[in-house]
Amino acid sequence: MEASAADPMARRMAGFKDFYQHAAPTRVIAGGDLLGSTGFEFKKEGAGRVFVVTDAVIRATGLVDRVEAGLRDGGLEPAGVFDEVPQDSSTDVVDRCAAAAKEAGADSFLAVGGGSVMDTAKVADAVFTYGGSARDQEGFFLMPRGDDGMGRPFEIAPLACIPTTAGTGSEVSMAAVIKDPKAKVKLEIADFPLFPRLAILDPESTRTLPPRVAAATGMDAVTHAIEGYVSTDWSPHQDARSLHALRLIRENFERAVGTPEDEDARGNMLIAANIAIAIELGSVHAMSHAAGALFGVPHGIANAIHLPHVIRFNAEGGPDIADRYRDIADVLGVEAGGDVGEALAEHITQLVIRLGLPTRLSDVGVPEAGIPDLVQGAMGDGTTILNPREVGEEDYVALYTRAL
Ligand SMILES: [Fe+2]
Repeated sequence: MEASAADPMARRMAGFKDFYQHAAPTRVIAGGDLLGSTGFEFKKEGAGRVFVVTDAVIRATGLVDRVEAGLRDGGLEPAGVFDEVPQDSSTDVVDRCAAAAKEAGADSFLAVGGGSVMDTAKVADAVFTYGGSARDQEGFFLMPRGDDGMGRPFEIAPLACIPTTAGTGSEVSMAAVIKDPKAKVKLEIADFPLFPRLAILDPESTRTLPPRVAAATGMDAVTHAIEGYVSTDWSPHQDARSLHALRLIRENFERAVGTPEDEDARGNMLIAANIAIAIELGSVHAMSHAAGALFGVPHGIANAIHLPHVIRFNAEGGPDIADRYRDIADVLGVEAGGDVGEALAEHITQLVIRLGLPTRLSDVGVPEAGIPDLVQGAMGDGTTILNPREVGEEDYVALYTRAL
C-alpha cells in the first residue's frame, strides 16, 4: 500500500497489492440447449446417483423434469428430488435436505434454482459429507483439512448448479448464506470445497422467471459488481470481472426484465451475474443481510434499496474511493461531474424505479423501531470490515434512516 507524499490516498486502491488471492475452480459451461447434456457433463465431475435440490415453483415449471431426463440421457441416475427450499433457506431446511440425500443413497448434488436453492445444496452437501448440522458449518475456511488442519480441505460430494435467476452467482462461489431462524441471523459459510464443480448457464433456465424476480436478483448482481470493485479486498482479477459484468448489465438488464422473450439478454445476464460474483463485499451486503434476517426483505430488493445510500456515504470517504466509483460511472455511461457519489447513486435509484422495485425500507415492511436491531446486525456482519470507508454504529443508523 504505497502512497505518494502529494496524495496519501492516491494508491490505496490501485497499484500492486501487498496480497490477494483469487480462485475460480468451477467449470462453467454456457450456451443454448445445454439442459439435455446435464448428465453427460456432470458424469465428468464424478456424479453417479444425483440428488436434485430445487423449490416447488421451479419444479412446477417442468424444468426439473427436463433436467432429470438430461441426467438419464448421460447415464446418471436421479436419486431423488428435494423441492422444499423456501425463498430464504434456513438451517433446518439444510439439515432436512442432507438427511433426505442420505436416505436416497445419493452420491452427488444438483441444484436447480436461485441463490437460496444453490446455497441450500452447497451446505447440505457439506453436512452430507462431513456430518454434523448446518450450524456447525458456519465460518470462513473452517472445513476439515488434511495434515492436522494445515493441508488441502477434504472435498465434498460432487455438486453441480443450474441457476434459474441471473443474480447471486452462487453457482461459482465458495460462499453460502443460510438463515438461522432461532438466532435471527444469516450464517455466512465459505471455504474452497463449496465451489461447485460444474455450473450450467442456459437461458432456457430463466425463461419463466417473473420480471420482478429478474429485477431483484439482477440488482444483486449489480451490487456484487460494484461492491466487489470498491471493497478494501479489491483485486485486479475482481476489477476485470466487475467492470465487464457492468458492461453486460448496462446492455442487457432492462431488456431481460422488460422483454423476457429476449433470449440473448437473458443469457448475457446469466453470464453477467456469474462473473460479477464476489465475496469481497461491503456495507450494502451487511445492511441487506440484517434486513433479510430480521424482516425477511428479499436479498436483491434489500440491495436495491441500500446501494445508493452506501455509494453516497462511501464516495465521501476520500478521493481514492470516489475514483473507484468514477470508473463504475464511466462504464455505466453516467455523467458524473464533480460529485460522482451523488450522480451514480441517483443513476441507480432511477434504474431501480424503472425496474419497478421499491426504493424504501418502509415500502417492504421495515418499521423505524427496527433500526437499532438492524444496526447491530449490520455491525456484526462479516462484510462490514470490507467496506472501503470505515463504518460505525452511528453511520449505520444514518444509512438505515435514509433508506427508510
Ligand atoms: Fe448478494
